[in-house]
Amino acid sequence: MGPKQQALLATTQALLVDDKGLLAMDESIPTCNRRFEALGLPQTEDARRDYREMIVNTPKLGAFISGAILCDETIRQKTLEGTSFINVLIDSGILPGIKVDMGTQEMAGHAGERITEGLDGLRERLTQYGEMGARFAKWRAVFSIGEGMPSQSCIETNAQDLARYAALCQEAGLVPVVEPEVLMEGEHTLEQCSAVTEEVLHEVFSQLYAQRVILEGIILKPNMVLSGSTCPKQATVNEAADATVTCLLQAVPAAVPGIAFLSGGQPAELATARLNAMNVRFKSRLPWALSFSFARAIQQPALEIWRGDKMNVKAAQQTLLHRARCNTAARRGDWTEDAERIGAA
Ligand code: 13P
Repeated sequence: MGPKQQALLATTQALLVDDKGLLAMDESIPTCNRRFEALGLPQTEDARRDYREMIVNTPKLGAFISGAILCDETIRQKTLEGTSFINVLIDSGILPGIKVDMGTQEMAGHAGERITEGLDGLRERLTQYGEMGARFAKWRAVFSIGEGMPSQSCIETNAQDLARYAALCQEAGLVPVVEPEVLMEGEHTLEQCSAVTEEVLHEVFSQLYAQRVILEGIILKPNMVLSGSTCPKQATVNEAADATVTCLLQAVPAAVPGIAFLSGGQPAELATARLNAMNVRFKSRLPWALSFSFARAIQQPALEIWRGDKMNVKAAQQTLLHRARCNTAARRGDWTEDAERIGAA
């Protein structure tokens, strides 16, 4: 193995070390604004910067978070004291990552389905982000479950784009976080989510293989297998954990070092409980680490405390740190409802 491949593998291992996980603080400007709007906060560049400064300045965050995914706006920003966010993260022992997709667009001829954009010029952008200090990247594709969805063409096109992105990342020396997200929204059952997730993952790994992506140098970021958000029968924590691991075992090669779940709008504690249940029930028998790469399930409770007020920064940071700590415990299968309450008090 050449030095370039070894460096990729070292980054991947650093992202999975010591039961830490990823913090996805890479909401696009419109998504971040939507979260602010829901709380009546101003939707300005300064407000987004203040929010991200609160997050990256959280004391001891590096004890539980190995990497933070930023968006293009945030990776160029600084704290009020003038330190770049990248350097604040590096000083805390957290690897900086960058979301490089350009969001999703309606797929032509496929009502209700979406295609992720951002491949044009990606090679150059990856080089620039690497020079800025980014060590890994993220690209998200989304799949809805519904009448005739996802279509074969939506699965194939998004999977091929994910694989082309991943190959370009590895060429640039960045670890690709590969994120195919089967959305929770809908009435579908746990079994339907499992079938669609498995089909999507098979196609993603087929395309990764075709594009010569080194599987040891990626992190997979999938959805958990869950009942649709409006399905009348909601799976229990253990049922969701079993369905998720069973599905992943069918589709994810053992060469992949780590799987870091997205939270996808699950309540924060429930996402932790489900990750914990997977590790309690299966950890010793799995070829890959089961980790987290949560956005909402780590940040939302802290955002609701912060609300744009300097007076709330400390309390918001404590809440953020608590969620990060709980998710690290879930990686070990050590999380309990008591630990959840004690830390939150
Ligand atoms: P959620 O954890 O809120 O789903 O966000 C993860 C993410 O990075 C979406 O791209």
